[in-house]
Amino acid sequence: MSSSDTDSYCSTEDYISSITSSASIADAQEFDPPKSYPPIPQDQTPDSPAAVDQSTPDGWINRNPELLRLTGRHPFNCEAPLTSLFDAGFLTPPHLHFVRNHGAVPRIDQHQSRDWTIRVHGLVERECTFSLQDLQDEFQVVTLPVTLVCAGNRRKEQNIVRRSLGFDWGAAGLSTALWTGVYLADILHFVRPQKGEARHVIFEGADDLPNGSYGTSQRLSWATSYERGMLIAWAMNGLALSPDHGFPVRLIVPGQIGGRSVKWLKRIEISASESQHHLHFFDNKVLPTQLTPERARVEKFWWYDPLYLITELSVNSAVVKPEHGELCDLIIEKDRVYTIQGYAYSGGGRRINRVEVSLDNGLSWSLATIEYPEDKYRTVPYEDSAFGTLDLTERDTNFCWCFWTFQVPVSDLARSSSIAVRATDEAMNTQPRDMYPNATGMLNNWWFRVAIVQST
Ligand code: MTE
Repeated sequence: MSSSDTDSYCSTEDYISSITSSASIADAQEFDPPKSYPPIPQDQTPDSPAAVDQSTPDGWINRNPELLRLTGRHPFNCEAPLTSLFDAGFLTPPHLHFVRNHGAVPRIDQHQSRDWTIRVHGLVERECTFSLQDLQDEFQVVTLPVTLVCAGNRRKEQNIVRRSLGFDWGAAGLSTALWTGVYLADILHFVRPQKGEARHVIFEGADDLPNGSYGTSQRLSWATSYERGMLIAWAMNGLALSPDHGFPVRLIVPGQIGGRSVKWLKRIEISASESQHHLHFFDNKVLPTQLTPERARVEKFWWYDPLYLITELSVNSAVVKPEHGELCDLIIEKDRVYTIQGYAYSGGGRRINRVEVSLDNGLSWSLATIEYPEDKYRTVPYEDSAFGTLDLTERDTNFCWCFWTFQVPVSDLARSSSIAVRATDEAMNTQPRDMYPNATGMLNNWWFRVAIVQST
């Protein structure tokens, strides 16, 4: 660690390749958690780049061809088919994890990653530059299960009704992984933000975008809170981050929109004001509904008020089975039941406390059964050299998706014209019935509906 502070020390030695080499950082098989833990999924990313990427700046990256590309060839933005994501279980294998890239992925090979540093500066008593080795050696290594959700998840539904500025995310713009790193709060306490002056923490990635680097910020009080669980992470499900997910190091911000989890993290600035990065300002906002996307484009500087900034995820849920367009063979028999299934999540660490299903367009609701796989990590602490501490025993926060099921006689389903689902969290935030069309198409959390059409 290098520091401008006189009493700190400096170590610039190459860090051991095991930190970032995907072969050895932590072989997924080496992880032998207590039996109650959900299994670690295997990565099945192909070992050569796809032909479709060849003529793009990302031509060197290996990617799963099953992922649905949502913005053509480049930049790479994708989600897995919803049922593939869901069937993979609680933890998403890297080859099915959604990706949101605003530009080309910084090309950092294993060798360069040894020299990767993160500069922490601004309104602090000691400015520091940390290598990955410093982070590993000097701070407690922790692992947390976290569901990342893109703010645009489910935007396709709005785009069908009123086109927004953003592209069509289905309902698979979310994924869950075990993220390993150090608490951001530890780093901030180490550099000692200046009392009174310092109010925000700005993060910047290494990607080179047309309007400058990708960057965003957090309130200092949140960033220094362990309860909020923010991590500087270098591993995902026990493997080094893949290039698309931020190799060699990224920020993980649980319970907030995915856009806050800056990839290829290079710089952290403690500041009196929030980030002035282009995308922090002109993205990740829910603008008032009367503003059309066309006006939002032209009247940019007028409308992008900091008041409309979004941080925490809103309560949300989706039906996964049956899928839109699925052909269900519902032979009407007295005892036959169909199990409707889906997921739910909320923001800010809040727990989902009910999921309700309606078969009569919201006139009446029935409770679904909820399963919280995240709770399995609360039972036994787990220590491992690659994972550090995996211990949720004292943590009350809920940072992951949960699953729900609802059994319905097929005769009822056959009589219904739609399935609607809504979730509520412990602060009694409930998904609204109606769409809130907004220019950016973010935090799309109205009731999720699947229409039932009887075939003749
Ligand atoms: N960080 C950088 N440097 N550049 C980006 O384009 N995209 C953000 C965030 N971090 C982005 C970034 C957005 S909008 C999301 S939703 C998440 O990364 C997606 O993380 P993932 O691609 O690992 O799923």
